Amino acid sequence: MPILEAQNISKIYHKAGEAIPVLNNLHIAVERGEILVLMGPSGSGKSTLLNILGTLDSDFSGSLIIDELDLSNTVDITSIRRQKLGFIFQFHHLLPEFTILENLLIPQMITENYSNVPQNVAKEMLKLIGLEERVNHYPNEISGGERQRVAVVRAMINAPSIILADEPTGNLDRDNSQKMLKLMVKLKVKYKQTFIIATHDQSILDIADRVLYLKDGKITKEI
Ligand SMILES: Nc1ncnc2c1ncn2[C@@H]1O[C@H](COP(=O)(O)OP(=O)(O)OP(=O)(O)O)[C@@H](O)[C@H]1O
Ligand SMILES: [Mg+2]
Repeated sequence: MPILEAQNISKIYHKAGEAIPVLNNLHIAVERGEILVLMGPSGSGKSTLLNILGTLDSDFSGSLIIDELDLSNTVDITSIRRQKLGFIFQFHHLLPEFTILENLLIPQMITENYSNVPQNVAKEMLKLIGLEERVNHYPNEISGGERQRVAVVRAMINAPSIILADEPTGNLDRDNSQKMLKLMVKLKVKYKQTFIIATHDQSILDIADRVLYLKDGKITKEI
Protein backbone atom coordinates (compact mmCIF):
# COMPACT_ATOMS: atom_id res chain seq x y z
CA MET A 1 0.00 0.00 0.00
CA PRO A 2 1.56 3.34 -1.04
CA ILE A 3 1.94 5.95 1.70
CA LEU A 4 0.54 8.50 -0.74
CA GLU A 5 -1.72 8.01 -3.70
CA ALA A 6 -2.92 10.90 -5.85
CA GLN A 7 -5.24 10.25 -8.76
CA ASN A 8 -6.59 12.41 -11.55
CA ILE A 9 -5.02 15.52 -10.10
CA SER A 10 -5.87 18.60 -12.14
CA LYS A 11 -5.36 22.21 -11.24
CA ILE A 12 -6.40 25.40 -12.98
CA TYR A 13 -5.47 28.81 -11.60
CA HIS A 14 -7.88 31.64 -12.35
CA LYS A 15 -6.43 35.10 -12.65
CA ALA A 16 -8.13 38.22 -14.00
CA GLY A 17 -10.79 36.20 -15.80
CA GLU A 18 -8.19 33.99 -17.39
CA ALA A 19 -7.87 30.25 -16.76
CA ILE A 20 -4.32 28.97 -16.34
CA PRO A 21 -4.28 25.17 -16.47
CA VAL A 22 -1.21 23.89 -14.62
CA LEU A 23 -1.71 20.20 -13.80
CA ASN A 24 -3.58 17.89 -16.12
CA ASN A 25 -4.82 14.60 -14.76
CA LEU A 26 -1.74 13.37 -12.90
CA HIS A 27 -1.38 10.06 -11.08
CA ILE A 28 1.27 9.62 -8.44
CA ALA A 29 1.91 6.84 -5.95
CA VAL A 30 4.70 7.07 -3.40
CA GLU A 31 5.97 4.16 -1.33
CA ARG A 32 6.98 4.41 2.29
CA GLY A 33 10.68 5.19 2.64
CA GLU A 34 10.91 6.47 -0.91
CA ILE A 35 12.67 9.68 -1.93
CA LEU A 36 10.65 11.01 -4.85
CA VAL A 37 12.01 14.01 -6.73
CA LEU A 38 9.91 16.32 -8.91
CA MET A 39 11.78 18.13 -11.64
CA GLY A 40 10.77 20.24 -14.61
CA PRO A 41 11.14 23.74 -16.00
CA SER A 42 10.27 26.81 -14.00
CA GLY A 43 6.49 27.23 -14.07
CA SER A 44 5.82 23.55 -14.81
CA GLY A 45 3.79 23.17 -11.62
CA LYS A 46 6.17 21.49 -9.17
CA SER A 47 5.31 23.77 -6.26
CA THR A 48 1.64 23.66 -7.18
CA LEU A 49 1.70 19.86 -7.06
CA LEU A 50 3.66 19.83 -3.81
CA ASN A 51 1.13 22.16 -2.21
CA ILE A 52 -1.72 19.90 -3.29
CA LEU A 53 0.01 16.74 -2.04
CA GLY A 54 0.79 18.56 1.20
CA THR A 55 -2.89 19.55 1.67
CA LEU A 56 -1.92 23.23 1.63
CA ASP A 57 -4.08 23.78 -1.46
CA SER A 58 -7.51 22.17 -1.57
CA ASP A 59 -8.67 23.93 -4.74
CA PHE A 60 -8.01 21.09 -7.20
CA SER A 61 -9.82 18.15 -8.71
CA GLY A 62 -8.84 14.55 -8.11
CA SER A 63 -8.37 12.31 -5.12
CA LEU A 64 -5.67 12.18 -2.50
CA ILE A 65 -5.02 9.31 -0.11
CA ILE A 66 -2.36 9.74 2.56
CA ASP A 67 -1.47 6.85 4.84
CA GLU A 68 -4.67 5.01 3.87
CA LEU A 69 -6.79 8.03 4.66
CA ASP A 70 -8.94 9.38 1.85
CA LEU A 71 -8.76 13.14 2.29
CA SER A 72 -11.93 13.81 0.32
CA ASN A 73 -13.82 12.17 3.20
CA THR A 74 -11.87 13.97 5.88
CA VAL A 75 -13.31 16.91 7.72
CA ASP A 76 -10.30 17.99 9.73
CA ILE A 77 -7.53 18.29 7.15
CA THR A 78 -5.54 20.58 9.44
CA SER A 79 -5.06 17.95 12.09
CA ILE A 80 -4.18 15.34 9.46
CA ARG A 81 -1.58 17.73 8.09
CA ARG A 82 -0.08 18.28 11.54
CA GLN A 83 0.04 14.58 12.31
CA LYS A 84 1.10 13.15 8.99
CA LEU A 85 3.07 15.76 7.09
CA GLY A 86 6.27 17.71 7.55
CA PHE A 87 7.48 20.61 5.42
CA ILE A 88 10.85 22.03 4.42
CA PHE A 89 11.03 25.25 2.45
CA GLN A 90 13.81 27.03 0.59
CA PHE A 91 14.07 29.55 3.39
CA HIS A 92 14.09 27.75 6.65
CA HIS A 93 11.34 29.76 8.42
CA LEU A 94 12.87 29.29 11.84
CA LEU A 95 11.39 31.77 14.26
CA PRO A 96 14.13 34.20 15.32
CA GLU A 97 12.87 34.85 18.83
CA PHE A 98 12.93 31.16 19.79
CA THR A 99 16.00 29.00 20.47
CA ILE A 100 16.91 26.04 18.25
CA LEU A 101 15.37 23.65 20.76
CA GLU A 102 12.17 25.70 20.98
CA ASN A 103 11.96 25.91 17.20
CA LEU A 104 12.09 22.13 17.03
CA LEU A 105 9.34 21.82 19.58
CA ILE A 106 6.94 24.27 17.95
CA PRO A 107 5.07 21.65 15.88
CA GLN A 108 4.54 19.64 19.06
CA MET A 109 3.46 22.72 20.96
CA ILE A 110 0.74 23.24 18.38
CA THR A 111 -0.57 19.69 18.39
CA GLU A 112 -0.17 18.78 22.04
CA ASN A 113 0.20 20.49 25.32
CA TYR A 114 3.62 21.65 26.31
CA SER A 115 4.21 19.00 28.99
CA ASN A 116 4.01 16.21 26.39
CA VAL A 117 6.76 17.71 24.33
CA PRO A 118 9.52 15.15 23.75
CA GLN A 119 12.61 17.22 24.51
CA ASN A 120 14.74 14.08 24.43
CA VAL A 121 13.67 13.31 20.88
CA ALA A 122 14.53 16.85 19.84
CA LYS A 123 17.95 16.65 21.47
CA GLU A 124 18.57 13.24 19.92
CA MET A 125 17.73 14.67 16.51
CA LEU A 126 20.10 17.59 17.04
CA LYS A 127 22.83 15.11 17.87
CA LEU A 128 22.17 13.50 14.51
CA ILE A 129 23.10 16.75 12.78
CA GLY A 130 25.95 17.56 15.16
CA LEU A 131 24.20 20.53 16.74
CA GLU A 132 23.54 19.13 20.21
CA GLU A 133 25.72 21.90 21.67
CA ARG A 134 23.53 24.56 20.09
CA VAL A 135 20.14 23.86 21.67
CA ASN A 136 20.09 27.21 23.41
CA HIS A 137 21.39 29.23 20.49
CA TYR A 138 19.06 31.41 18.45
CA PRO A 139 18.74 30.97 14.66
CA ASN A 140 20.92 34.05 14.00
CA GLU A 141 23.68 32.42 16.07
CA ILE A 142 24.16 29.44 13.74
CA SER A 143 25.08 29.26 10.05
CA GLY A 144 22.66 29.19 7.12
CA GLY A 145 23.44 25.56 6.37
CA GLU A 146 22.98 24.63 10.02
CA ARG A 147 19.64 26.46 10.07
CA GLN A 148 18.49 24.51 7.04
CA ARG A 149 19.43 21.22 8.70
CA VAL A 150 17.51 22.28 11.82
CA ALA A 151 14.54 22.84 9.50
CA VAL A 152 14.83 19.26 8.24
CA VAL A 153 14.91 17.96 11.78
CA ARG A 154 11.96 20.16 12.70
CA ALA A 155 9.96 18.66 9.83
CA MET A 156 10.74 15.22 11.32
CA ILE A 157 9.83 15.94 14.89
CA ASN A 158 6.21 14.73 14.80
CA ALA A 159 7.31 11.56 12.96
CA PRO A 160 5.33 12.52 9.84
CA SER A 161 4.39 9.94 7.22
CA ILE A 162 5.76 12.19 4.51
CA ILE A 163 8.08 15.20 4.33
CA LEU A 164 7.48 17.60 1.46
CA ALA A 165 10.34 19.85 0.47
CA ASP A 166 10.29 22.71 -2.03
CA GLU A 167 13.80 23.62 -3.23
CA PRO A 168 15.35 22.54 0.09
CA THR A 169 18.88 23.24 -1.13
CA GLY A 170 17.88 26.40 -2.99
CA ASN A 171 19.95 28.81 -0.92
CA LEU A 172 22.76 26.51 0.15
CA ASP A 173 26.32 26.17 -1.14
CA ARG A 174 27.56 22.81 -2.39
CA ASP A 175 29.02 21.69 0.89
CA ASN A 176 25.87 22.46 2.86
CA SER A 177 23.67 20.93 0.14
CA GLN A 178 25.64 17.72 0.43
CA LYS A 179 25.23 17.70 4.22
CA MET A 180 21.51 18.27 3.78
CA LEU A 181 21.16 15.39 1.31
CA LYS A 182 23.20 13.09 3.55
CA LEU A 183 20.85 13.94 6.39
CA MET A 184 17.81 13.06 4.29
CA VAL A 185 19.31 9.70 3.32
CA LYS A 186 20.14 9.04 6.97
CA LEU A 187 16.52 9.71 7.93
CA LYS A 188 15.29 7.50 5.12
CA VAL A 189 17.51 4.62 6.23
CA LYS A 190 17.02 5.06 9.97
CA TYR A 191 13.29 5.90 10.10
CA LYS A 192 12.06 4.84 6.65
CA GLN A 193 11.17 8.50 6.18
CA THR A 194 9.39 9.32 2.91
CA PHE A 195 10.35 12.49 1.04
CA ILE A 196 8.79 14.30 -1.90
CA ILE A 197 11.17 16.99 -3.13
CA ALA A 198 10.61 19.63 -5.82
CA THR A 199 13.88 20.99 -7.13
CA HIS A 200 16.10 22.20 -9.97
CA ASP A 201 19.19 20.96 -8.13
CA GLN A 202 20.70 18.12 -10.17
CA SER A 203 22.72 16.93 -7.19
CA ILE A 204 19.49 15.83 -5.48
CA LEU A 205 19.15 13.20 -8.20
CA ASP A 206 21.97 11.33 -6.45
CA ILE A 207 19.71 10.49 -3.52
CA ALA A 208 16.45 10.04 -5.47
CA ASP A 209 14.78 6.65 -5.69
CA ARG A 210 12.59 7.98 -8.48
CA VAL A 211 12.39 11.19 -10.49
CA LEU A 212 9.26 12.56 -12.15
CA TYR A 213 9.63 15.24 -14.82
CA LEU A 214 6.75 17.68 -15.16
CA LYS A 215 6.02 19.61 -18.31
CA ASP A 216 2.88 21.16 -19.78
CA GLY A 217 0.79 19.80 -16.93
CA LYS A 218 1.87 16.21 -17.46
CA ILE A 219 4.50 13.81 -16.18
CA THR A 220 6.61 13.52 -19.30
CA LYS A 221 9.31 11.24 -18.00
CA GLU A 222 9.91 8.94 -15.06
CA ILE A 223 13.32 7.61 -14.10
N1 LIG B 1 -1.52 31.87 -7.30
C1 LIG B 1 -1.37 31.75 -8.63
N2 LIG B 1 -2.22 32.34 -9.49
C2 LIG B 1 -2.10 32.20 -10.81
N3 LIG B 1 -1.13 31.48 -11.40
C3 LIG B 1 -0.24 30.87 -10.59
C4 LIG B 1 -0.30 30.98 -9.18
N4 LIG B 1 0.72 30.27 -8.64
C5 LIG B 1 1.39 29.76 -9.69
N5 LIG B 1 0.83 30.12 -10.86
C6 LIG B 1 1.27 29.70 -12.21
O1 LIG B 1 1.21 28.30 -12.26
C7 LIG B 1 2.33 27.77 -12.96
C8 LIG B 1 3.07 26.77 -12.09
O2 LIG B 1 3.68 27.44 -11.00
P1 LIG B 1 4.57 26.66 -9.93
O3 LIG B 1 4.95 27.64 -8.91
O4 LIG B 1 3.85 25.45 -9.49
O5 LIG B 1 5.82 26.22 -10.84
P2 LIG B 1 7.19 25.54 -10.42
O6 LIG B 1 7.38 24.35 -11.29
O7 LIG B 1 7.24 25.34 -8.96
O8 LIG B 1 8.24 26.66 -10.87
P3 LIG B 1 9.68 27.03 -10.22
O9 LIG B 1 10.61 25.95 -10.68
O10 LIG B 1 9.99 28.34 -10.82
O11 LIG B 1 9.53 27.08 -8.73
C9 LIG B 1 3.15 28.98 -13.38
O12 LIG B 1 2.83 29.28 -14.69
C10 LIG B 1 2.70 30.06 -12.45
O13 LIG B 1 2.82 31.31 -13.07
MG1 LIG C 1 8.43 26.11 -7.42
